[in-house]
Amino acid sequence: MAQFDAAWLRRREPFDHAARSIPLTQQMIARLPERSPLRIMDLGCGLGSNYRYLQPRMERASQWILIDHDADLLQHAQELGVSGTFYQWELTHLENLRKLYPVDLITGSALLDLVSAEWVAALVGATGDNNTLFFFTLTYDGRQQWQPAHPLDEWIRVMFHRHMQQDKGLGIALGARAVPTVCQILKNKGFTVHTGDSDWQITPADTPMLTALVTGISLAVQEICPPGQQNRLQTWRRVRKHQMEHQELSLIVGHQDLLAYRERQ
Ligand SMILES: C[S@@+](CC[C@H](N)C(=O)[O-])C[C@H]1O[C@@H](n2cnc3c(N)ncnc32)[C@H](O)[C@@H]1O
Repeated sequence: MAQFDAAWLRRREPFDHAARSIPLTQQMIARLPERSPLRIMDLGCGLGSNYRYLQPRMERASQWILIDHDADLLQHAQELGVSGTFYQWELTHLENLRKLYPVDLITGSALLDLVSAEWVAALVGATGDNNTLFFFTLTYDGRQQWQPAHPLDEWIRVMFHRHMQQDKGLGIALGARAVPTVCQILKNKGFTVHTGDSDWQITPADTPMLTALVTGISLAVQEICPPGQQNRLQTWRRVRKHQMEHQELSLIVGHQDLLAYRERQ
């Protein structure tokens, strides 16, 4: 089961909001029906970051349905002023979602790299409404550009991807393969799909974010690293820590936003 720390979700939110693709967001809003209120379903809503980004940009009244399996995150989201109907549900049970259809928009931020291809196919197959838009934002796409580069970056990246592609509760997670895989699933089901870059731009002054990422990536790699290669990890971590302390490190993390819809007849 994938557990996310509220402190981490708060830390990443400003980077997420700065990164999101404005043209794709505008395209999504322009594609929504004229209906008011709109019905919007946010999967894996966490603290409500996706709501905080999208709600002020919606041009009409919206009813939000917010789903997450973590009761603490849902509680925090409500305390942060997120307005909607909350469900503490496991996303494994897609039949629950059907009880809430039809909706105009199914959205989720930072979710697709955690799920499996089978889960995406089941979700799309179960919407039962040709007019539902899908808008999945901030999916990690495998790019990590550390500046300055280090010879062990590529090894770290490959190990990190291997760690991502484990079962996080919704089948074998797509990890860095999520965007092309989901695009193909949606196209096979007759959707038109658009993507837009939503890369994190992390500067040397963003020390808490860099620290969280170096620590998080190192812990993930440590979990799967053979004992004989742990010294590589320690070397990489030590160099990166030194660079962070001297504000010499910056990072771009590649993400993609994805919009999918069926052409109206
Ligand atoms: C990376 S976080 C993103 C949270 C939020 N959308 C954001 O952008 O900050 C992934 C979210 O999915 C939720 N999640 C993961 N697996 C889940 C599952 N099987 N059922 C329900 N929620 C799940 C987590 O609790 C977490 O809130």
